[in-house]
Amino acid sequence: MPMGEYCTQLLTAEHAQLETAAELLREGKLVVFPTETVYGIGANALDADAVKGIFTAKGRPQDNPLIVHIAQLAQLEGLVRQVPPAAQELIRRFWPGPLTLILERCAAVPEVVSAGLDTVAVRMPSHPVAHELLRLADVPVAAPSANRSGSPSPTTAQHCLHDLDSRVHAIVDGGPCTVGLESTVITLAAECPRLLRPGAVTLEQLRGAIGDVEVDDAVLCAVQEDAPVASPGLKYKHYAPKAKLILVHGDLPAFIRYVQGQAMAGTYALVFDGETVDGIPCIAYGEKTDASSQAEKLFAALRTLDDCGAQVVYARAPQTQGVGLAVYNRLIRAAAFTEIFLD
Ligand code: TXA
Ligand code: MG
Repeated sequence: MPMGEYCTQLLTAEHAQLETAAELLREGKLVVFPTETVYGIGANALDADAVKGIFTAKGRPQDNPLIVHIAQLAQLEGLVRQVPPAAQELIRRFWPGPLTLILERCAAVPEVVSAGLDTVAVRMPSHPVAHELLRLADVPVAAPSANRSGSPSPTTAQHCLHDLDSRVHAIVDGGPCTVGLESTVITLAAECPRLLRPGAVTLEQLRGAIGDVEVDDAVLCAVQEDAPVASPGLKYKHYAPKAKLILVHGDLPAFIRYVQGQAMAGTYALVFDGETVDGIPCIAYGEKTDASSQAEKLFAALRTLDDCGAQVVYARAPQTQGVGLAVYNRLIRAAAFTEIFLD
């Protein structure tokens, strides 16, 4: 039996059940809901006590700020001091959708939401259930991914129940998330727009929309625990399966030879669809040439590896163009930056 204080209600995405979920949010309760990226654990963003509950439920470090979710552009007014032209262009092109903007924070946003920073992260999700819930709740909703801190983000209601049963008031089941990785995060509060976390809205698309976009060092490299970072979430070890994961660059024959040479009890391979390694159990995470399908399946595959009791996992490395950059960013963190180059 998980430790926690609530009897978690399981709700469907029917209108009447979303009314219940919206009412819970307005009362300051915690509601898990689906978005197009991953499931989020939501609380009324303007209610500091409710937001504090999110940190407790997740076991999240207090210095890691949250994303505020909105259903209407008019809600931006109460959250951010200004919307610079580059942000307006990104909103026009990519909202609603998997893009989070970091902007200067209004005083009305409780400090706990942005962990004391003078900025706030805002996103308008495109998932119809998220949109309907946010509209009915009629309050901005702070929501990090609905996993326990350190485990992969949840892409189904079952993942959320596994991590948060009795720690939240309700979970709305909206089926599997289609994007599968968390939103792209870009700051427009710096001198030059800077990508803090890659996602389904790609670096190429961002540059196509607003020109110059820097890439934060933390996107591809490990950062020191005590180093100052633009986005505190980047310094935590994320998306970690229980197994030791090693990212292997090289073609399939080289990968097979290498993994077979290393195999011991508890060794698994994380491969692309249709690939096999004789003698080694394989879990697939999408099509080799389709980064979006890898994004959709990656987190569920990491959870499956844990369920199987994998001890060591050798993973095929994705391409890093387009959405592939986001897949690589999550995998390299899951691997605690352990990579092998076979060519
Ligand atoms: O797709 C998503 O973004 C999901 C769904 C639920 O919307 N949410 C999500 O939240 O992934 P979370 O808390 O797991 O990730 C938020 C990221 C963290 O890396 C955090 O550090 C960063 O955004 N962040 C939030 N506010 C920030 C701020 N004011 N400045 C810089 N980074 C910020
Ligand atoms: Mg998260």
